[in-house]
Amino acid sequence: MSTFIEQAEQVRNAALEVIQAAPDLAVLEQARIQYLGVNGRFTALMKQIGTLSKEEKPLAGKAINQCKGALESALAARKGDLEIKASLPKEPADFTMPGRRRTLGRLHPLTQVTEDIVRIFRKLGFVVADGPEVEDDYHCFDALNTPADHPARDMQDTFFVNHPNKSLLRTHTSSVQIRVMEKQKPPIRIIVPGRVYRRDNADATHNPTFQQIEGLYVDRGVTVGDLKGTVEFVFRELLGEEVKLRFRPHYFSYTEPSFEIDFSNALVRKLGKEWLEIAGCGMVHPRVFENVGYDPEMWSGWAFGFGIERIAMIRYAIQDIRLFYENDAQFLRQF
Ligand code: DAH
Repeated sequence: MSTFIEQAEQVRNAALEVIQAAPDLAVLEQARIQYLGVNGRFTALMKQIGTLSKEEKPLAGKAINQCKGALESALAARKGDLEIKASLPKEPADFTMPGRRRTLGRLHPLTQVTEDIVRIFRKLGFVVADGPEVEDDYHCFDALNTPADHPARDMQDTFFVNHPNKSLLRTHTSSVQIRVMEKQKPPIRIIVPGRVYRRDNADATHNPTFQQIEGLYVDRGVTVGDLKGTVEFVFRELLGEEVKLRFRPHYFSYTEPSFEIDFSNALVRKLGKEWLEIAGCGMVHPRVFENVGYDPEMWSGWAFGFGIERIAMIRYAIQDIRLFYENDAQFLRQF
């Protein structure tokens, strides 16, 4: 009997030593299996209790339970210590090292230009409107007085898509003029920044997708003077006081009269040009008003559309439009 308890205590002491000495979690687990596993040394002792006499059992049982408890708490304590040890860095930390700086992202230059333009138009009471990029013939062309056989459609080489009622990618943001006027009564003052698509090969000044801003103003008694005044105000705010603008007669099917706006400043002249064409505009064609159910005798208005990339290229003196789309961080970090 006493030899059984002595034996249990010996095994316990041996186990405690191994547990204390375990250098890592793997060795500790081996020690647990060695003593308390199914075939462990301590487990074997526990099984022996069954062979003891009825008088011996209570004391032996009590002793063995105490030993087992001691082993289990020693294992748990050592495990906790070793887990902390395993989670600590292997190398000592140098707390005098400078912290790691998180690089801040920033808005894409095209987004910055768009936001600036929107801000300027807001001062004049314009609101931003939006429309679908996948469009139908009607909103992109027909309603803008450009029927299917109209030569103006050739100038905007179109991507067509397989869709039951929307058959193309919009070639300009002018489609949103129609969508807004269909839903709203005058007066209207909107600008529409958005992506447009044309079947162009990419080169320094073309890309098959680019961004435009459309403007539309409809009220009673609107004149070309309002159009010129507004456009001049916006471009001076955006690109500086020394900006010069020129309105050159042109043709668009949805405006009459129509103009192209040429732009000049020191940078344009430095690039060896006197004028740079930046926008199309004009007085809304009466037939467009009829198409949306406005009375052209009562309402008048102007519209314009320009390319955002063009403006950004002038603003930042960028000579290749493709730089905007390449996601080259070295380029983008400059803005
Ligand atoms: N939609 C024309 C283009 O993409 C630009 C334009 C010209 C828009 C005249 C207008 C406008 O609103 O009145 O080239």
